[in-house]
Amino acid sequence: MLAGVSDIGIYIPNYYLPHEELAKARGIPKEKFHIGLGNYNMAIIPNWEDAVTMAANATQQLLERNNIDPDEIRQLVVSTESGVDHSKPVASFVQGLLNIGTRCRVYEIKHACYGGTAGLIDSIEWISRHSNSNPKGIVIMTDIAKYGFGSLGEPTQGAGAVALLVESNPRLFSLDTLLNGIFSKDVFDFWRPTGHRVPIVDGKYSIDCYLMALEGAVSHFRENLGLKEGELLDSLDYLIYHMPFTKMAHKAHRHLVEIEYKDSSPESREKIFEESFARMVAPSLRGVQEIGNIYTGSAYLGLVSLLEAEREKTEEKKVGIFSYGSGCGAEFFLCHIKPGIGSIVDSLGFREQLENRKRFTFEQYIQCYSKSDEEILYYPEEARGFKNKFTRFVFTGFQGHKRQYA
Ligand code: CAA
Repeated sequence: MLAGVSDIGIYIPNYYLPHEELAKARGIPKEKFHIGLGNYNMAIIPNWEDAVTMAANATQQLLERNNIDPDEIRQLVVSTESGVDHSKPVASFVQGLLNIGTRCRVYEIKHACYGGTAGLIDSIEWISRHSNSNPKGIVIMTDIAKYGFGSLGEPTQGAGAVALLVESNPRLFSLDTLLNGIFSKDVFDFWRPTGHRVPIVDGKYSIDCYLMALEGAVSHFRENLGLKEGELLDSLDYLIYHMPFTKMAHKAHRHLVEIEYKDSSPESREKIFEESFARMVAPSLRGVQEIGNIYTGSAYLGLVSLLEAEREKTEEKKVGIFSYGSGCGAEFFLCHIKPGIGSIVDSLGFREQLENRKRFTFEQYIQCYSKSDEEILYYPEEARGFKNKFTRFVFTGFQGHKRQYA
């Protein structure tokens, strides 16, 4: 019996800025964002939310839907590159907000956008080793992708959190971690030195590093499965890529087709690309088009989008996931979707959150993203006014250097 994931909680902020409005304000043709990057709207996180509230809001859904007593959770891992403290992990704040018991291993993990996958693999392996006691683990990816105002990365911004419930007898998908294809290398493609508000990015080089990591991870994965070049696409039903922007999935898939079908003619490669992209990759794109980059949760936002788009069609299908983090680390792995997932898909609530979002103007976006956390102070009563069905926890400011939540 392989361990895996039983349910997914997704949380996205309640506000968005259309790329059309950003393009107008920046004097850039909107086609560059819509066609060049493939994005239409980007999530804007208000000042009363942060990586902690998003993580807790995503996880609360899992606990309620699955009737889980917080004391049952044995491992709680949070992956983020938007941490709120150099020492105290986001995971401890989440433990407090959700009343998770003391007999639980709680930690934060960081490796840019790849950290969540590292946490997931670690949790699956830990749960597998303890399968006799049927423990439950939660892995959370929570991030705010902010770049400089007017920078090239600005249209790829986004925010959101994904929480995964890990069990030894999973209801959503299982995964054999021994087959995973791995690639890591020390590079400077995207990084945020201590104290910097936004990252430093070598944009074009970061794309090259991503494609190099894809090639390395896929070649390792092929070896582990005993596949020859050209056999990978036929051994999968769907493919999900880490998506800092929608067009990255096109670039990644085109590269994969090129390396898989080196000896084919350009025309035949183009045909394979078009057909396989529409069938295997396109169903996972809605989240990134509407939200943008959510760093650690990006590939899992793709999984939520795929599940909502294809529903029962994904049952008993094989989904390949490519997770990439700058710096860089990557993993290509195979998820086996379980039968009977209809009720899990029904309760994801992703579409409902997207439909309930409110539109920000460009001025509201600038005002919101100009403030630092230290300038924020809401009274708990006032902050409660921002809560709704999905936003259960809000940030209210600092007291005695301690972050406060309501
Ligand atoms: N109409 C249609 N398309 C247009 C256009 C127009 N008027 N103007 C430009 N375009 C197209 C360009 O042709 C280009 O398309 P191709 O890539 O298919 O050639 C696309 O729009 C982007 O334009 P540029 O080539 O001018 O690229 P840019 O200088 O705007 O930078 C970027 C793009 C490098 C992705 C930048 O947004 C960036 O630095 N982003 C942050 C870093 C990032 O996301 N890196 C990805 C890999 S690293 C990673 O994955 C980790 C992570 O999460 C950060």
